[in-house]
Amino acid sequence: MEQLALYGGQPVIGTDRSLPNLFPRDIAPKAYDFVKEVLDSGFHPIRGMAERFEHKFAKMNNARYALSVSNCTSAIHTALAALEVGSGDEIVVTSISDYGSLAGVLALNAVPVFSDIDPDTGNVNAELIAKCITSKTKAIIVVHWHGSICDMDPIVSLAKDNGIPVIEDCCQCPFGEYKGKKAGTMGDIGCFSFDAEKHLSTEHGGMVLTNNKELYDKAFKFAISRGAYEVPGYGRKYDVIGLNYRYGDLEAAVGMAQLDTIEQQNARRVASADRLMDKIATIDGVIPISIAPGSSCLFWIFPVIFQMERFNTDIRTIGEALSTEGITGCSHLPYYFFVDACDYLEQSCERERYPGALKYISRTVRWVWNDKYTEEDVDLMYKAIKKVADYFRASE
Ligand SMILES: Cc1ncc(COP(=O)(O)O)c(C=O)c1O
Repeated sequence: MEQLALYGGQPVIGTDRSLPNLFPRDIAPKAYDFVKEVLDSGFHPIRGMAERFEHKFAKMNNARYALSVSNCTSAIHTALAALEVGSGDEIVVTSISDYGSLAGVLALNAVPVFSDIDPDTGNVNAELIAKCITSKTKAIIVVHWHGSICDMDPIVSLAKDNGIPVIEDCCQCPFGEYKGKKAGTMGDIGCFSFDAEKHLSTEHGGMVLTNNKELYDKAFKFAISRGAYEVPGYGRKYDVIGLNYRYGDLEAAVGMAQLDTIEQQNARRVASADRLMDKIATIDGVIPISIAPGSSCLFWIFPVIFQMERFNTDIRTIGEALSTEGITGCSHLPYYFFVDACDYLEQSCERERYPGALKYISRTVRWVWNDKYTEEDVDLMYKAIKKVADYFRASE
């Protein structure tokens, strides 16, 4: 048995070559021209480039309205505010995600009602969401986790039957598709992130996408106008509590250029991830995640599921072993389970109500995927995963 790097052996990756780092991110060359345009304009008019970015983003997603904001945490806060969510309203939200999916719910004093997830997909589904709906449910937030689009048809039809709007958190899947429809256009509002690690990066940034003019106007008033309306001869008055979540024209300038290359980058990312999905399916005790029929998966993170009953260690050690073999950043992911991670949540004492989420965090490791990975990189990752699985696999 080959000794693991974790215990002093030779790592699979890193001796001859390391995996390409996500940073520095590839910046589309036209970004320099767009940035110069903003600088030459002396920032006048403010939102000029942001508006151009919004129009281009909306058009490429076959949506009517896009509103750029400072990040996705603020995009989701804005979406909830546009839906007039307030104190005591219940918001159904997945139990596994980045904190940014939840922050807006808490900021509005609404009550998160966590939906359990399917441990094989990492996503919520209509059946699990249905268990969370009550007469107080004001909205449903679905997260297309890993970049894999949730099975949206049953979710949208459940939401319509109950008259509840759906927010799609598309941070991990910009331009992903489900049955020919773009991520973020199947529910009522889609929210996106352009942070430094995301598919389309402008260092920071976010977007609210909708086909509903009224929701767009409310989102604009909350996130850009700070809740104000104009009174002729007086000036600004405020009839709702708003914020300033404005996105910068300089970041939008980068975004304008990045939109030209995002689809090729996504294609490269998916091709290499699909190669690894096929390869790990051949390792005894290791399974790739399931993806809903008709969904694309854009692999912001790459998950690997270990059937833990087959191994004589825990998932944390597996993550550490893979990281030391050279899959840098690979780890288990307990802190994505809100119920455990947020000390102040009342739901924390009820963690056993989420068997799917508990199963998911106890047998899944992941690392941030990267569109620079070559076939050779993928083959090295496969070798590392096989080595770790072979080492820890319990004898029958
Ligand atoms: C699913 C999901 N939602 C929300 C966020 C928050 O995005 P931002 O950092 O742009 O606020 C992230 C960031 O990683 C995310 O992955």
